[in-house]
Amino acid sequence: MDFLQIAKSRYSVRKYKDMPVEKEKLDKILEAGRVAPTGVNAQPQRIIAVTSREGLEKLGKGAKTFNAPVVLIVCTDKDSAWVRPADGKNIAEIDASIVTDHMMLQATELGLGTVWMCWFKPDVIREEFNIPNSYEIVNLLAVGYADCEPLSADRHGEMRKRIDETVTYA
Ligand SMILES: Cc1cc2nc3c(=O)[nH]c(=O)nc-3n(C[C@H](O)[C@H](O)[C@H](O)COP(=O)(O)O)c2cc1C
Repeated sequence: MDFLQIAKSRYSVRKYKDMPVEKEKLDKILEAGRVAPTGVNAQPQRIIAVTSREGLEKLGKGAKTFNAPVVLIVCTDKDSAWVRPADGKNIAEIDASIVTDHMMLQATELGLGTVWMCWFKPDVIREEFNIPNSYEIVNLLAVGYADCEPLSADRHGEMRKRIDETVTYA
C-alpha cells in the first residue's frame, strides 16, 4: 500500500478484539518510533509499552483503554529537548507527537487498529507508573486488532476540511 493509502485507511479504533499483538509487530511499531525525527535529534521521548493485564488495569484508572491489548504511554523529557532561542519554546511535545504518529501509521500498515488519546488523567498515570515529574505524559496510543467495521478510506472528502481551508500559498 502506498503511504497516502495507509494514511487514508487509518481510523480511530475504540473497540478491540481480545487478541494479543504479536511481539514482532510491537517491536516494529516501537522501531518506527525510534527512527522518527526529533529536533536536533534530541530524542526526548520516553515510552512505556503497557502490555500486561496488571499494567492495563492500572492504566484504566486514569484513561480509557478500549480493551486494547497494548497501550503506549508516550512521555517526553522536557529537560532533554531543544529549546528555540528566539522565544524559549521547548519542542518536547512536538517530538513526542512525531514519534507517536510514526508508531500509529506503522501499526496501520501492519493491519492493526489504533486510537491516539489525549484524554487521560496525567496525575493518576504518573502515580501508577512512577513516572518522574520531569517527564510530561503527552499521548497514549492504544494498539490492537479492531473489533468494528472499518471506516472507508474514501471518507475524508466529507470528514476533513478542503485543502483550501487549511493551506495557503505564499
Ligand atoms: C492529538 C489527538 C488527541 C486525541 N485524543 C483522543 C481521545 O482522548 N479520545 C478519543 O477517543 N480519541 C482521540 N483522538 C482521536 C480523534 O478524535 C480522531 O483522530 C478524529 O476524530 C478523526 O477521526 P479518525 O481518527 O477516525 O480519522 C485524538 C486524536 C488526536 C490526533
